[in-house]
Amino acid sequence: MTLNRAAAFAPVNIALTKYWGKRDHEINLPLAPSISVTLAELGTLTVVRPEPELTGNRILVNDKPLDPKGLVKVGRVMRAVRALAGTEVKAGIRAVNTVPTAQGLASSASAFAALAKAAVTAYNVDISDEDLSGLARTGSGSACRSIHGGWVLWNKGERDDGTDSTSERLLTPEEWPLRVVVAHIGEGPKKISSTEGMKLSESTSPFFDSWIETCHRDVEECKVAMINRDMQHLAHVVEGNALAMHATMLATRPGLVYWQPATLGVVHAVRRLRNEKGLSCLFTIDAGPSVVVLTEASDLSQVADAVAQVPGVTRITQTRIGGGAHIVPNG
Ligand code: DP6
Repeated sequence: MTLNRAAAFAPVNIALTKYWGKRDHEINLPLAPSISVTLAELGTLTVVRPEPELTGNRILVNDKPLDPKGLVKVGRVMRAVRALAGTEVKAGIRAVNTVPTAQGLASSASAFAALAKAAVTAYNVDISDEDLSGLARTGSGSACRSIHGGWVLWNKGERDDGTDSTSERLLTPEEWPLRVVVAHIGEGPKKISSTEGMKLSESTSPFFDSWIETCHRDVEECKVAMINRDMQHLAHVVEGNALAMHATMLATRPGLVYWQPATLGVVHAVRRLRNEKGLSCLFTIDAGPSVVVLTEASDLSQVADAVAQVPGVTRITQTRIGGGAHIVPNG
């Protein structure tokens, strides 16, 4: 068996219908399926270097040691890779994010997708993309959607071991090449992580059961909007799903209030652009204050200008729907 240094890049993804609730907290099995789009350029570059002399994995993220909770998650992925490779050799791991962490853009998704991709390559494990998505999922649930590019479905799966809770691509980026504007909005008080927030919502939000039912319906409706390339229909489902998740979060005890005033400012701006100016755009929001706006390419500059002018938006990033996790030669 040969062990080699490997570098992989994985992109972030933004959920169109969300994952917020687990049937297994150890290996991140969801209570509902979800659909996302993969964003070009924003993501994580990770280098894995197996080193026989190491007694434990050595990990740096953006040149800083990883926190204990992150170490547990990385350990889970690396243990699985070592078992597949049939070796006890540990690795040095270095990850660099090209997306600000903890701003409501899921940097953990790109981080664990890049880790899984680099690790299986470094340890010479032959694995399908589907199984690779399952491996990434054990680090962070949403990471399973960052293995593929384009429009991606994460299947809920039925099995307890999670082998059928993997992701698949529904459309390539070219099949519906929407553009993306990320409205970055600064952090407020220290936020509760998705991992912790989900647990709290499951046990205390009075809306939780109907939220999960909503997700099942929205995934089916989202697929129909995708097949028809129907932006109005997509906006109806995607905005409705994000708002239903935030309603569930707000009703959690203690309430999970991820929004800042500028978050609401962007929500209203997008609705004005669509309803009053006839532009083709929609918003979604994850577990943080930033807002992600999808738009047709023809409306991109008008949408980007309007979003950038919303008070409290610190900067915008323009991107498109992009490809999946890949090895970076000489990275
Ligand atoms: C709001 O995948 O970060 O972004 O599985 O505990 O690591 P863990 O959670 P994570 O949750 C993402 C939640 C979300 C919605 C989504 O991406 O679907």
